Amino acid sequence: MQPVLKVEALSKQFQLYEQGKLIPSCADVHLEVQAGALTALIGPTGAGKSSVLKCIHRTYLPTSGRMLYRDRDNHVTDLALASEHRILELRHSDIGFVTQFLHCLPRKAALDVVAEPLLARGEGAGGARERAAELLALLNVPERLWGVPPATFSGGEKQRVNLARGLIARPRLLLLDEPTASLDPATTGRVVDLIERIKAEGVAMLAIFHQPELVNRLADRVVELTPPVAATELLETCTS
Ligand SMILES: Nc1ncnc2c1ncn2[C@@H]1O[C@H](COP(=O)(O)OP(=O)(O)OP(=O)(O)O)[C@@H](O)[C@H]1O
Ligand SMILES: [Mg+2]
Repeated sequence: MQPVLKVEALSKQFQLYEQGKLIPSCADVHLEVQAGALTALIGPTGAGKSSVLKCIHRTYLPTSGRMLYRDRDNHVTDLALASEHRILELRHSDIGFVTQFLHCLPRKAALDVVAEPLLARGEGAGGARERAAELLALLNVPERLWGVPPATFSGGEKQRVNLARGLIARPRLLLLDEPTASLDPATTGRVVDLIERIKAEGVAMLAIFHQPELVNRLADRVVELTPPVAATELLETCTS
């Protein structure tokens, strides 16, 4: 079976012009993600794990490498070269991202924040809200908070809303950045069950985990990143 995503020699560097430095954030990353399977991305803090997901989601534009995404029609798009329009289209219909932190949408109730991806796909408001309520309940978000905007929520509560929003729709490719980082053991267990269910439905997943037991339980492949070499001086670029 052809992979849904194939990443080849992906690297990202940041140029800090004021300090004349190049900060490498990930270097020469190779990985594959198959439908109905989970590839785990592991490695120490600063190894570039989140940067890889951000490049795939095109929050960051990679410095070099290819990120080949195969869609339903077997058409392959290099996400590194795709137009902004194509990227927005893929984010809408194909590629989901549960980030490490919730970038909060102001003045919208938690229930609507979670239901939004289903509404955006044209599902009816009643059904979308019902599904959102089920997920918030499953993730142990107290019902009294469902009508409140998540801006004032605790870190763990925000993470649960973020997770519910990412897991509600079934994208073809789901990127998960430490999805259980701030959850208690009981909720972590529920999220693990949910990830297994989503995998069985055929979703391709690329997920960052720090806990080896979660990697053992959920991963079909493991890719280990090592921190890139230390910052190098920018040569002529900054001085000329
Ligand atoms: N926007 C940015 N500007 C400058 N440097 C960045 C940026 N984003 C990431 N980096 C650098 O890239 C390196 C990798 O960061 P990244 O967040 O990808 O690590 P990580 O493996 O996800 O770490 P953690 O396990 O702590 O989440 C870090 O040294 C970081 O400082
Ligand atoms: Mg990270």
